[in-house]
Amino acid sequence: MKTAFKTHEGRVVLVTGASQGIGQAIALAFAERGARVVATDLKSPHDTVSKIGPSASAFELDVTQEEQWRSLAAEVRDIGDVDIVVNNAGYFPNRSIDDLDLPTWRRTFATNLDAHFLSVKYFLPAMRKKKWGRFIGISSNMVGLAIPGMSHYIATKMGIIGFMRGLANDVAGDGITANSVLPGLTNTQAIAPQSEEQKRGTWEQQAIKEKIKIAREYFLRADQGRPDVLELFNADAEIYFPKFGFGSGRESFLEMVKGFEGILEHIQHDYDGFNFIPSGDYLIVEGTSHGRMSGKAWAGGKTPGGRFCNVFKFRDGRISSLHIYLDPDYTGEDDSRFRWGKSRQW
Ligand SMILES: NC(=O)c1ccc[n+]([C@@H]2O[C@H](COP(=O)([O-])OP(=O)(O)OC[C@H]3O[C@@H](n4cnc5c(N)ncnc54)[C@H](O)[C@@H]3O)[C@@H](O)[C@H]2O)c1
Repeated sequence: MKTAFKTHEGRVVLVTGASQGIGQAIALAFAERGARVVATDLKSPHDTVSKIGPSASAFELDVTQEEQWRSLAAEVRDIGDVDIVVNNAGYFPNRSIDDLDLPTWRRTFATNLDAHFLSVKYFLPAMRKKKWGRFIGISSNMVGLAIPGMSHYIATKMGIIGFMRGLANDVAGDGITANSVLPGLTNTQAIAPQSEEQKRGTWEQQAIKEKIKIAREYFLRADQGRPDVLELFNADAEIYFPKFGFGSGRESFLEMVKGFEGILEHIQHDYDGFNFIPSGDYLIVEGTSHGRMSGKAWAGGKTPGGRFCNVFKFRDGRISSLHIYLDPDYTGEDDSRFRWGKSRQW
C-alpha cells in the first residue's frame, strides 16, 4: 500500500526477521512512511535494504542470542537511538504434541519469546531517556483458532500478548507503549509447507470469526439505536423482517425500524446466549432478546415473544443480506387468535 504520509520521519525502526515475508513488508511500510530502518535477520537482509535504499541498514541478528543483541545495540548507535522495535522473527514448525521434543519447544520459545525480552533489555534504556518508544510484538491470531500441532507456537504467541501487557504497565510512565499485533494466516514462505487443505481450514476459521464479530457488532449497534449500524451493511443489502417483507438497500433497515417508532421502548439481545451456526457465506444466529413495548415487558425464554433467528449473508466484509425470523408480537398481544401454546415453556 503506497502512502504519501511521512508519519515516521526522524524515527529509527528495528525490525527482526526482516529478510522476507511479514518482516520485510513491515520494514518497507515503515520506510515508506519516512523512518530509517534497521533491518535484521539470521543472514543480513540485503534484499530488503536494497528495496528501500540508503535510509535502511542491514544487520545480522540471531534473536535467540543475547550477545548479538548486545553488539547490535552498540553498532546501531551511529544510526541513532532506536525508537521502535518490531519483534517479528518467528519459528513455527508444526509438531503434534506426541512428536514435540524439548529442543523444538526451547527453540520456539527462544525465537518467539526470549527475543522480546532481550530487545527490551538492550533498547529500553535509550527510549526511557528520550521519553518515547514503541515495542511491537508480532503474535498470531492462531491463539484463538483450533489448529492442531501448534501448542508450542501458540504458547509463545500467547506469551507475547502477556509480556506486552506487563511491559506496557512498567513503561507507560515514560511515554513508551508495548503492543501485540495478531496477523491472520498470510501467504509467506513460512506457510508454504502447509497443504492447500490446511490453509483453507485456517482461512475458514478466520472467516467465521470475522463474521461472528460483525454479527455481534450488528446486535450491539441495533440495540443502542446507533445510526452507524448501517455501515455494517453493503449499500445494496437486502433485509427481510416478518410483516415488513423484503427491503432492498441498507436504508431499508431504517424503514423497518420506523415501524416500531412510538411503541418500542427498549430492546436488548441476550449477547451471552447467542448460538452461532456458520454455513458457507452465511451465518445463522439464534437467541433471545428482552425489552419493553407499549409499557409491557418481554423476556425471550420466559415469555412467549423474544426468540429470534437471524440469517446473515456476507460480501466483502459487510452484511449483504439479513433475514430476521421472529414473532414481531413481542409482548403476546395477539395471543387470543392462537389456540395453542397455553402453559408452555417459552
Ligand atoms: N505467515 C503467517 O500466516 C503468520 C500468521 C500470524 C503470525 N505470523 C508471525 O509473523 C512473523 C513473520 O512470519 P512470516 O510468515 O513472515 O515468516 P517467514 O518464515 O517468512 O519469515 C520469518 C523470518 O524470521 C527469521 N528468523 C527465524 N528465526 C530467527 C532467529 N532466530 N533470529 C532472527 N531471525 C529469525 C527467518 O530467517 C525469516 O526471515 C512470525 O513471528 C510469525 O509467527 C505469521
